[in-house]
Amino acid sequence: MPLKSRITGTGAYVPERILANVDLEKKVDTSDEWIYERSGIRERRIVRKGESNSDMCLEASKMALEAAGTGPEEIDLIIVATMSGDMPMPSTAAILQDKLDARNAAAFDINAACSGFVYGLSVADNFIKTGASKKLLLVGSELNSRFLDWQDRSTCVLFGDGAGAVVLEPTRGSKGILSTDLYSDGSMWDYVCLPGGGSSHPPTRQTIKERLHFIKMRGSETFKVAVRTLEKLVVDTLLKNNVKVSDLAMLIPHQANLRIIQATAKRLNLPMSKVALNMEKYGNTSSASIPIALDEVVRAGRIKKGDYVMLEAFGSGLTWASALIRWG
Ligand code: ACO
Repeated sequence: MPLKSRITGTGAYVPERILANVDLEKKVDTSDEWIYERSGIRERRIVRKGESNSDMCLEASKMALEAAGTGPEEIDLIIVATMSGDMPMPSTAAILQDKLDARNAAAFDINAACSGFVYGLSVADNFIKTGASKKLLLVGSELNSRFLDWQDRSTCVLFGDGAGAVVLEPTRGSKGILSTDLYSDGSMWDYVCLPGGGSSHPPTRQTIKERLHFIKMRGSETFKVAVRTLEKLVVDTLLKNNVKVSDLAMLIPHQANLRIIQATAKRLNLPMSKVALNMEKYGNTSSASIPIALDEVVRAGRIKKGDYVMLEAFGSGLTWASALIRWG
């Protein structure tokens, strides 16, 4: 049997502070009804002053390592999927390596925005399958709140902070990650973007005045592409693996919008009881949403050994990605 990778531990962390829709009503011209009806979000978590992205990574990672029964020194590679790292350099993965004292691990970040965790899972899977890594820590973590324009009601109501982590190890059985599929269409790069702060628009008085250092989104255009793309993504992944929709025990989608998820489930004829949801509590936590939801379903005993579990994500780039896992 060829080498596969399997998830041997999961963990998640969200900050304590809750920012509810009703609190946002006091900041911008919005309402709890509008936000909940249009997105499915009721509240989100926001970091405390001084708390960093790598701090969130650390908490989620400690839980995942404990669940996997492994010490940090056994990890040989740390990958952090993030678009809101502590700083442009070094990578947040390097800072996490220090905080975790994972002294034998190489470390790097990847950025595929909201698809980041599934992209990271694909990279991780290939490191394990080729034998290049024996024990890998993959984290999806976002500190979105510091990149939100709290005067822009079309974006600030949607996002939240949080982190999720998994430990991956090799296996030769029938279980593990069966396939990962990654896609992008950069012609729509400006549908969701954060234009300021990079080398195109380094910080100046003008870029700050133009509020370029905040997330911008063309919401309804992005919504339409997401709905069109995600059904095909799931169907193609299942076909490739000879698995039927009815065989799926759990779909763990990126948590951007409940209506996108419901539309995908309806088109697939998949009951919502088989779909993991957490955006009501946490909003869109970008690359953290899937690993947080995965940790929740694992800890709640909603998936068991041998179950088919599908992860699917869609985000800035535009990017989209899926992973099919036989749990165990
Ligand atoms: N409160 C009240 N009204 C609002 C708010 C708000 N917070 N925000 C926008 N509106 C208004 C708009 O101004 C607009 O008013 P108008 O008709 O008078 O112009 C109206 O509500 C409708 O706005 P739309 O943007 O068309 O609303 P839509 O139904 O598309 O919902 C949403 C918006 C929730 C953003 C949705 O489009 C969405 O979820 N899009 C996809 C998001 C996504 O998947 N992003 C990718 C991942 S993110 C990443 O990668 C970082």
